[in-house]
Amino acid sequence: MTVQLYARDVGTGTPLVLLHAFPLSSAMWLEQRQGLVNRFRVVTPDLRGFGGSRLGTDEPSVDAMADDIAHLFRGLGLRRAVVGGLSMGGYVAMALCRRHPDLVLGVVLASTRAGADTPAVRETRLRQADAIDRDGTVQVLLDEVLPGLVGPTTYRQRALVYGRVRGLVQATPPPAAAWAQRAMAARPDAFETLRGLKVPALVMAGDEDTIATEDEARAMADALPNAELLVIPRAGHLCAVEQPDLFNQAVAEFATALARTTG
Ligand code: MLT
Repeated sequence: MTVQLYARDVGTGTPLVLLHAFPLSSAMWLEQRQGLVNRFRVVTPDLRGFGGSRLGTDEPSVDAMADDIAHLFRGLGLRRAVVGGLSMGGYVAMALCRRHPDLVLGVVLASTRAGADTPAVRETRLRQADAIDRDGTVQVLLDEVLPGLVGPTTYRQRALVYGRVRGLVQATPPPAAAWAQRAMAARPDAFETLRGLKVPALVMAGDEDTIATEDEARAMADALPNAELLVIPRAGHLCAVEQPDLFNQAVAEFATALARTTG
């Protein structure tokens, strides 16, 4: 059963649907809404259980999150859009490309990975999900996930940005966090989807990211038939939050070129 997602929807023009990272919400795209609203229709949903969207009753799966996005397209009357996802949002974007390719005009994959989890990563996710259920809080994510979300440059020089990210992690509903960890643990390898992608792609990585590395981004760009790769300097995992101007400029150029070629 798909869930009706809460989405912020601003601006007019080529639609740009941006899917947020874990364990955040559409609030992470504040600077994208502000910076891109004059040129695009910027749609930023809360994935199920996060922000203003309810969790639903399905078993954890990234495919279910992708089906929610397809349902959102229909609800908003969107025929096709440039779809961008950061990290978990990227996993959802890749699942959308596999399950609903007709909706995707082009894809932006930022700070994300096409490979399935290693057994060690999967085990960590399931342990954290169990801890969240047991504690009824996301404290384990504040302790173990938050420190890796931004790079050392942001951590040292931009306390306000780090504070904002911390606030977003703290606001995550525990059931959504546990569900999403289990969903990500179960997600399949997406390289085959990338190899078969018919639309252009922009792959981005922060050069200080240790969660989704530059090498992983390069492997994705190599697998994609039509991709460009951009490494964002002085940015960690949340490159869109840490370097919004560079991120927005790259997305705007990519989406503008796409709109030109597809009419
Ligand atoms: C994210 O930022 O969405 C997470 O790092 C994704 C993950 O845990 O793989």
